[in-house]
Amino acid sequence: MANVTVIGAQWGDEGKGKVIDWLANRADVVVRFQGGNNAGHTIVVGNKTYKLSLLPSGVIQGKLSIIGNGVVVDPWSLLDEITRAQGQGLGINPDNLILAENATLVLPLHRDLDGAREARAGAGKIGTTGRGIGPAYEDKVGRRAIRFADLADPEALEVKIERLLAHHGALRAGLGLPEARPDEILAQLQELAPKILPYVKPAWRILGDAIKAGQRVLFEGAQATLLDVDHGTYPYVTSSNTVAGQAAAGAGVGPTAGGYVLGILKAYTTRVGEGPFPTELNDETGRLLGERGHEFGTVTGRPRRCGWFDAVLVRQSIAVGGVQGAVLTKLDILDGFETLKVCVGYRLRGETIDYLPAGLRDQAAIEPIYEEMEGWSESTRGARSWKDLPANAIKYVRRIEELIGAPAVLLSTSPDRDDIIMMLDPFQG
Ligand code: IMP
Repeated sequence: MANVTVIGAQWGDEGKGKVIDWLANRADVVVRFQGGNNAGHTIVVGNKTYKLSLLPSGVIQGKLSIIGNGVVVDPWSLLDEITRAQGQGLGINPDNLILAENATLVLPLHRDLDGAREARAGAGKIGTTGRGIGPAYEDKVGRRAIRFADLADPEALEVKIERLLAHHGALRAGLGLPEARPDEILAQLQELAPKILPYVKPAWRILGDAIKAGQRVLFEGAQATLLDVDHGTYPYVTSSNTVAGQAAAGAGVGPTAGGYVLGILKAYTTRVGEGPFPTELNDETGRLLGERGHEFGTVTGRPRRCGWFDAVLVRQSIAVGGVQGAVLTKLDILDGFETLKVCVGYRLRGETIDYLPAGLRDQAAIEPIYEEMEGWSESTRGARSWKDLPANAIKYVRRIEELIGAPAVLLSTSPDRDDIIMMLDPFQG
């Protein structure tokens, strides 16, 4: 099996960036298939820290990097990111970065709408990243979005802007936003076109040819299963499908092309934004996890909510995502805790259940059932082999494997690229 798909198995921020970078080293092509610049991946290589948002992590290794049709792309943000990455010495050019011609643009009016709706929602807000991701996906499925191919056709672009504004005009008026002017948007897009069009290509074909030629492809997921628009804690989710099944549709390949599915999970749980979080700790332990784990959003800088590992949620993510192997990250953040808790079931109105119900009221009402485990006092940070791990840390990992129903194939033990324990090479999976 030559290809690997990586997805997050909790609410995002599981440390996918580092794992994807590590895997990108072993791949020929890296493809993003959903999300947009709501994602933030931090990758540390030696003394350099790269913060990627839209660029596939393959750019760090100079691999062919594809932004697939399933991604919504803020083109100005992408150009800024390219310039920043080039400034850090990365050789990004239209030969090694491909932007799908059928990908959707995120426009300033999408950000306006995202912000205005959140501001009006009060306590009912989603806690979005404010990047216009939801409104852009709405226009895509509403069949009025502007796609990258449209930038090459100024006449069609004008008509498309008119159609888009017929919809947004009413929304903006209702929300008290100033009128959006079609001539201004056209001018912005015309100015943008020559800068972005060199990257715009039929990505599905380039990727298909690479697969036929036997190249190894890494499908890079953003966000995570519990933020999936179908399978997550709806409506407190992002607006795309984040499960591995989306890799095919969002990149333009068949359903078997994704290969081995790897789910990334943090040794505890975090979430940023609003919504249910059964194992959340609003106490000293939660604060300590956040402090030790540097749990602040990469994109927005917001402090993340922290809690114990929830095996029920992860088991469900693994099932709906078709995850075959797990990568456990940030085990070292649990170093020094006397006891650890793992959620193994929920209590809902006096009954015990073993899954997350879909109803919001039920999700808010469930109470975690915990199993306690003994912690370890030794440091696991930087461990590169099983024998470097204390016995209780191994027990913790083994118990998690048992509870989630998937083997831990990789263990990440620090932000450093090389601090990884490998049980199985996912590309050989
Ligand atoms: P949106 O994707 O900006 O619409 O935000 C919807 C929800 O997804 C909010 O709770 C965000 O905090 C969350 N979210 C979006 N992208 C990420 C991510 O990359 N990591 C963690 N949470 C995210």
